This record gives sequence, structure tokens and C-alpha cells, in this order.
Amino acid sequence: MSTQLEKIKELIALRAEARLGGGEKAIAKQHEKGKYTARERIAMLLDEGSFEEMDMFVKHRCTNFGQDKKTFLGDGVVTGSGTIDGRLVYVFAQDFTVFGGSLSETMAMKICKVMDQAMKMGAPCIGINDSGGARIQEGINALAGYAEIFQRNILASGVIPQISGIFGPCAGGAVYSPALTDFTLMMEGTSYMFLTGPKVVKTVTGEDVSQEDLGGASVHASKSGVTHFTAETEEEGLALIRQLLSYIPQNNLEEAPYTECTDPIDRLEDSLNEIIPDSPNKAYDMYNVIAAIVDNGEFFEVQKQYATNIIIGFARFNGQSVGIVANQPCRYAGVLDCNASRKGARFVRFCDAFNIPIVSLVDVPGFLPGTGQEYNAVILHGAKLLYAYGEATVPKVTVTLRKSYGGSHIVMSCKQLRGDINYAWPSAEIAVMGGAGAVEVLYAKEAKTAEDPKAFMAEKEAEYTKLFANPYNAAKYGYIDDVIEPRNTRFRIIRALQQLQTKKLSNPAKKHGNIPL
Ligand code: HXC
Repeated sequence: MSTQLEKIKELIALRAEARLGGGEKAIAKQHEKGKYTARERIAMLLDEGSFEEMDMFVKHRCTNFGQDKKTFLGDGVVTGSGTIDGRLVYVFAQDFTVFGGSLSETMAMKICKVMDQAMKMGAPCIGINDSGGARIQEGINALAGYAEIFQRNILASGVIPQISGIFGPCAGGAVYSPALTDFTLMMEGTSYMFLTGPKVVKTVTGEDVSQEDLGGASVHASKSGVTHFTAETEEEGLALIRQLLSYIPQNNLEEAPYTECTDPIDRLEDSLNEIIPDSPNKAYDMYNVIAAIVDNGEFFEVQKQYATNIIIGFARFNGQSVGIVANQPCRYAGVLDCNASRKGARFVRFCDAFNIPIVSLVDVPGFLPGTGQEYNAVILHGAKLLYAYGEATVPKVTVTLRKSYGGSHIVMSCKQLRGDINYAWPSAEIAVMGGAGAVEVLYAKEAKTAEDPKAFMAEKEAEYTKLFANPYNAAKYGYIDDVIEPRNTRFRIIRALQQLQTKKLSNPAKKHGNIPL
């Protein structure tokens, strides 16, 4: 055999060794836990055969605790590029079979390299986390590695989409990389995220809590809002990431991809003409409205289980990707509270950063009153949503279906927050507050001296409602651009979005604003 052929043989052997990660035994252990390996995950995530691996031959250079005698090619993370639906993406997947996927100085270098490439190329960066945290043997070098990653997450924010999949442990300061990215997905049953684990919690606070109850997928999906998506199987999780990317552009200078629209743009949806109940206190399901107006009824919801009084997610109108923000009347009457405001604000900012038009569907009775909300800074959280809408320069189309009262009217993309096209249904009630509350403030004194206080108040409420609980008062001032028939909503939104395609609007030059965090 020639020397060259021998060298090629060596290369092939090294590649085979690298592909085994921590070895067959460790791979079998990973499979026993119902988890795939880093390489298997990447293969499922990317278009078949598109993966180009980098840094397969990197080894750690730690000598503490005899580590120099324990090295693995690739050092616990698989990195590189590939395509999803033919579009370039960068990816890193931590390999739990090597030192529990723990982060070493060299692993951090590898991750930073793909992040830098993603920034240079203007392509999304997807991280699959499955790690025991900082590699304990490396000490401060591992911490410095984390900080290098976080710094890149921060600089990439708003420039390229960043997505984190949590497919195993993610604990300690390691959680901050996913937290800095745009979207996080957690696996049910096999993943967890927390700053301090159950043992430390028990020591410090005395609280007894399981790993799952402290930081499992359902906790972060419904209670903390840390994760945007959950999946039962890894296949489902990786497919979700692929689907998510189909709605978003490669970077902040591009538009989201258009898809061919097979749903007639002028489809009339008669059911919408009868969806609003006669009683203003009765609810209806906003999901039915969304399904009726978007292309083929397809809605890709984000944070489905968190702050369910507001709905956010992606859909398409005539093939164009949009972000939908909608109050949900059948969850706490669609009221805005701390969590709903934060959820909506972050999504509006994502859409604005990545040139995705925002369609807002409004039916909101106001902000939730009470000490619980005030003590939790509903003022600041509400202001976040207000700020996000007001600063957004992407096309903004708003449809008011029913209630739009007071501060919440302003916050939900009103005309003065630079709403481009603001429609209202004939059932819209755009006013400072609801009739019952208003007459309580205006006529409480007179009611006391009235012959029949109840009848007096009912009469005043009817008067107020007639005057204000309609869209025409706002339309009279041009605060509503048109009152539309509900069944035409799809067509009118599509026309509005077409009109807004060449929208140019920029904010005053500044270093950055000071959103009320
Ligand atoms: C080095 C680690 C490691 C780590 C796991 N391993 N975590 N090696 N540094 N942080 C190794 C184990 O020694 C073991 O090696 C292999 O990975 C698999 O781990 P197991 O414990 O056998 O797996 P499992 O039972 O599934 O438990 C997984 C685990 C546990 C829950 C993650 O390994 C664990 O508690 N690890 C330590 C977590 C931790 O405290 N990390 C540091 C947090 S501080 P062998 O050779 O036996 O196969 C931190 C600061 C970050 O991360 C700050 C960022 C700003």
C-alpha cells in the first residue's frame, strides 16, 4: 500500500473513531434512556446528507485529574452546517456519551466557531443541549467558555434566529445560553432546566422537590414560560424546529420564505358573522377565528400552555409568514396580565427584529386588577407590550373583534402606536371602559338619590353603551380605518398586507432604547 493510501486509511479510521463519540457502551446507555445521540439528532434535524461536520478532530487539552489520558475525538460536541428545506443552518449538538456532554474549554471553542460562522453567513444557529454542565475537571476554563458562548448569543440576538433544543440535562449557568436565544424546545420526561438542582434547593431552602417538578418540560411550558415548545419524542421535537424555521427568515436583512398559497384569498367565512355572542359577558374561542382566516387553517402556536389569555404564533396569509397576537376571550375573558404582557411583548419584538408582519386580533376587557398584579409589576410588564408594539416598524394590521377598553386598547397595536391598518368588526366596543364600570364612576352619587337606583343605573349604562360600545365613535376620528364585515376578514387582512409590502419606517438613531425590563 502506498504511503498516501495508508494515510487515507488512517483518516478513515479516525473518522470512524470520532463518530463513536464516547464509545459503544456509552451510546447503548444513551439509547437505554430513550435518547438519541448527538449525531443521530443532527441527521434527523437536517436535510438528508446535507451535514458538513467541522472540528471532528478537536481534543481537550486539560491535564488536571489525569484528564490527559482520557480524550475523545470531537470532545463531546458535534458541530457543523447543513440545510433545512434547502436553507443553510449551523448546528451544534452536545454529545452526552463524552464526559456527560459537559462543557470544556475546547467544546466552547467549537460552539463559538459555528456561532461565528452562522453570523458571518447570516444563517440560523440551532443548539441541541444535553450536558452535565461545566466540565468539572477544567474549572475556570469551562466557565470562561460559557461566557464566550453567552457573549455570542447576545451579539447574534436580532441578527440571526437562534433556537435551542433541550434534549437532556441543562443546569446551572448553562441555562443562560438557551435563555438568550429566540426559541427553546424541551423534551417531555427526559430534559430539565434549572439554575440550582434539587439537592442544593433542599440544602438552602429545605424544600423537597423532584427534578421534574423543579425544571421539567411541563413546568417551563406552563408555569415559568421559559420554554416555547415541548415534544413527547425527539423525532417530534426536531420536526418542530424544522417547521418553526419555515416561518422565519435567515437573518434580520431578509424576508421569511413565501410558500405557494392554495387557499383562496377571497374565501368568505360566514361563520365569523355569527361568532360573537349577544351577551358581552359570554366568551368565544379565538382559535376558531384564527383557523378561519389564515391559509388552510394552519397555525403554528408558540408558548401554547403559558399565559393562555393571550395567543401568539405564526401563520400565513396568501403564503406570507405573519406573527399573530390575539387575546383569548375564553381564558380569563382575554384580560392582559403580567405574564400575558411579557409573552406578547417578546413575540412582537421577535417578529419586528426579523421583518415578520404582525396581525393583532383584539378582544380585551382591560388589565387584570388587584394586588397580585400590581405587586408583580403589571405596570412594567404592560409597558413592555406597549413598548414592543410602539417600537415595531414591521407592517402592523389590527382587527378589533369586540372589546377594546382603556389602556389595553392602546397597548394592543392601536392607531397611535403606528398601527398601519386598523380594522374593526361592527361588534367592536372601543371605549375608555365597559358600560357597567363607567356608570359606576360617573353616576354613583346620583344613583343614591334616585327613586329606583338600579333602574337609574341600567338606563345610564344603556345610554353609555349606545354611545361608546361601537366601532363608529373611534372610526369617526380615523382611529379605525374601516369597519369590516367579519366574514371578509381574511381577504381584508391579505389586501392590507399586500399594500404594506413596501412599508419603510425607521426609529430615531440611538444606541438602544431602554425597554422597561
Ligand atoms: C465532568 C461529567 C460532568 C461534568 C457528568 N459527567 N457531568 N464530567 N463534568 N459536569 C460525566 C460523569 O462523570 C460520567 O462519566 C458521565 O459524564 C455520565 O454521567 P452520569 O452521572 O453517569 O450520568 P447520569 O446518571 O445520567 O447523570 C447525569 C447528571 C450527572 C445528572 C448530569 O452526571 C450530574 O449530576 N453531573 C454533574 C452536574 C454538575 O454539577 N455540573 C456542574 C454544574 S456547575 P463516566 O466516566 O462515569 O461515564 C456549572 C456551572 C456552569 O455547570 C456555569 C456557567 C456560567
